Amino acid sequence: MLNSFYPGEIWPDDHGVHINAHGGGVLFEDGVYYWYGEHRIEGTAGNVAHVGVHVYSSQDLMNWTDRGIAFDIRDGKVPECPDGCIVERPKVLRSLTTGKYVMLFHYEADKKYRNAAVGFAVSDTPIGPFVFHHIQRPNPGVWPVNTPDALKDAALIAKTRETMADVSGGMNDKAPTLSILGACFESGQESRDMTLFRDDDGKTYHIYSSERNATTHIAQMTDDLLGYAGNYCRVFENRWMEGQAIFKHNGKYYIVASGCTGWAPNAARSAVADNIFGPWRELGNPAVGPEAEVTFRGQTNFALSLPDGRVILMLDRWNPQNAIDGRYLWLPVEFDGERPIIRPPAPWQL
Ligand code: DGJ
Repeated sequence: MLNSFYPGEIWPDDHGVHINAHGGGVLFEDGVYYWYGEHRIEGTAGNVAHVGVHVYSSQDLMNWTDRGIAFDIRDGKVPECPDGCIVERPKVLRSLTTGKYVMLFHYEADKKYRNAAVGFAVSDTPIGPFVFHHIQRPNPGVWPVNTPDALKDAALIAKTRETMADVSGGMNDKAPTLSILGACFESGQESRDMTLFRDDDGKTYHIYSSERNATTHIAQMTDDLLGYAGNYCRVFENRWMEGQAIFKHNGKYYIVASGCTGWAPNAARSAVADNIFGPWRELGNPAVGPEAEVTFRGQTNFALSLPDGRVILMLDRWNPQNAIDGRYLWLPVEFDGERPIIRPPAPWQL
């Protein structure tokens, strides 16, 4: 039995096997935590999906029981998600109206990352099986509530359509001169890294990197969690954020996210807001101490809010040379005034 967190170390499950749930998220229900994440295989082959989404359960957050593959794409079971596609950053919530468990994940046909879409899968139980439902981009045919007029300009949108194939998802000077938002108006907005957040009033939001990763969107979902309510907002314009993790503390909303450098680590950012749609105020890198400038070689993936109000920030320490050996940094969030702080990885207890 583990009685501490050992960030960055091998994290054995109930079979003694390193937990295989990368880029994950946690659902808490009836006293049980469910940890969902990308199942990765050995070597560089593990940087794309071959298996699906793994789920583990725990009552103490340190000792996890392997509950198997919750969303299984092996052997062509899901034709829309063939071997070698991308299934990243799965998150699960239960719909308060239908009672179904709904999984959202970042879907790409391949590692060119050009689909920028969201996969949906549904289950009657938290451990699955999650049945593929559909793939879409968020909010087709709807403008964000805070769209600048310049981004609706027809000439700019036409120019963007002609040139955006050359614009990468990494930081670049070109995206800010275009209207990726306008060019994606009909298809739905691009969605790559993503998370889900349920607010105290029961509303659920999908937070995703959009517009070639330059700008984050926060979108309200329908109550069945299978679509979008038509109410969304652009935040952190041209700040290239990924790995968004969101939580509430003392009535304020916080986002912690990474910059945008592929599998390589970078300095995290944090931000606070009184309303989920903003305005958001950036508070800087929450990491302090040695290796803070690369967030202890980790990338944020989820903020786990405990029933007593404490928050654990979950990060991945990716290993793209041997993807199955990616490590997990679960770190307690402290506050320096209103600024969230995470300290260098060391064993700790709740
Ligand atoms: C960074 C993202 O945060 C990851 O989820 C993954 O998509 C990698 N990029 C791929 O390079």
